[in-house]
Amino acid sequence: MLRIGMLTSGGDCQALNAAMRGVFKVVTNNAKEPVEFYGFEDGYKGLIYGKFRLLREEDFTNILTIGGTILGTSRVPFKTIHEPDEKGLDKVAAMKQTYYKLQLNCLVMLGGNGSTKTANLLNQEGLNVVTLPKTIDNDLWGTDMTFGFQSAVDIATRCIDEIHTTASSHGRVFIIEIMGHKVGWLPLNAGIAGGADIILIPEIPYDIKKVIDVIEERDRKGHRFSIIAVAEGAISKEDAALSKKAYKKKLANYEYPSVSYEIADLIQKATGREVRVTVPGHTQRGGAPCPYDRVFASRLGAEAGKMILDGHYGFMVGYRNREMVKVPLEEVAGRLKTIDPTARIIEEAKLLGISFGE
Ligand code: F6P
Repeated sequence: MLRIGMLTSGGDCQALNAAMRGVFKVVTNNAKEPVEFYGFEDGYKGLIYGKFRLLREEDFTNILTIGGTILGTSRVPFKTIHEPDEKGLDKVAAMKQTYYKLQLNCLVMLGGNGSTKTANLLNQEGLNVVTLPKTIDNDLWGTDMTFGFQSAVDIATRCIDEIHTTASSHGRVFIIEIMGHKVGWLPLNAGIAGGADIILIPEIPYDIKKVIDVIEERDRKGHRFSIIAVAEGAISKEDAALSKKAYKKKLANYEYPSVSYEIADLIQKATGREVRVTVPGHTQRGGAPCPYDRVFASRLGAEAGKMILDGHYGFMVGYRNREMVKVPLEEVAGRLKTIDPTARIIEEAKLLGISFGE
């Protein structure tokens, strides 16, 4: 008997169901022994508190195209994993206990950065773990691509497309704030795809004077509107120069809902132009996966299924240089994949006339 536990952890994204379906199909279609799949509810919480259900074929039917996760998810921050819960429960010990009680052969974890740190810890504690790279942020080390990312790029791009027409009618400056946490992959790609004039990402701190110069130059050239794609984690040069402590203090007394509103205020005051902010927010993580993600997540699921059948554990399935690869969990855990400001894509965007507000 092969017993497999599965959970989805952290912020959800498109194609989680497609990936789980891939794992299930490959293992059940090819195993030489009976297989049982257990799904843990709401991420690591299900493993900690022993909340699970036996998953059957019907659970995986008709879910390829459906967003979200059939298992539910939650955030159990890695930094609190060694702290006992409100009732004094040792979370790591509890997770191990659930795993051994169910006599699992392995645990499949679909998650992003923080979740992979916990997966690595469990692997080091002796559990057999396989992970799949999930996040709209595309910031996981060890893989060129994460699933969910392309679907989110589609949504954020559509948002910029829709803003374009209204920005043009009214002759306004529009800021679209795009998710991505501490990295700029999503705003960069959606910004290029949506024809943004300015893209501000955390990896390239901006100078607000340069942003204003670009808008005024566009005015002089007779463009009626300007579109700025701002990463939720965008940071000005001044703020980037602050110590961690001083920056935290600034944020504690911050008068704006987010960085986009600060930028909008500064542009409005300096230019007298009408500036509007649009925040697509969690819509970027919602709805059906795009075809790319359906294929990609199915492939990752298939590779994870193969790894389970071969008894290869302790890896994240990744995608590098157009090849599926196995990346050791200790290599992935705790490392962020950021954009190199000297990367070709940045150089090409600049050649296309896009400003990064430098
Ligand atoms: O990691 C995915 C993500 O959507 C980030 O882009 C964003 O910063 C964060 O999650 C939002 O988290 P929550 O859903 O907890 O508000």
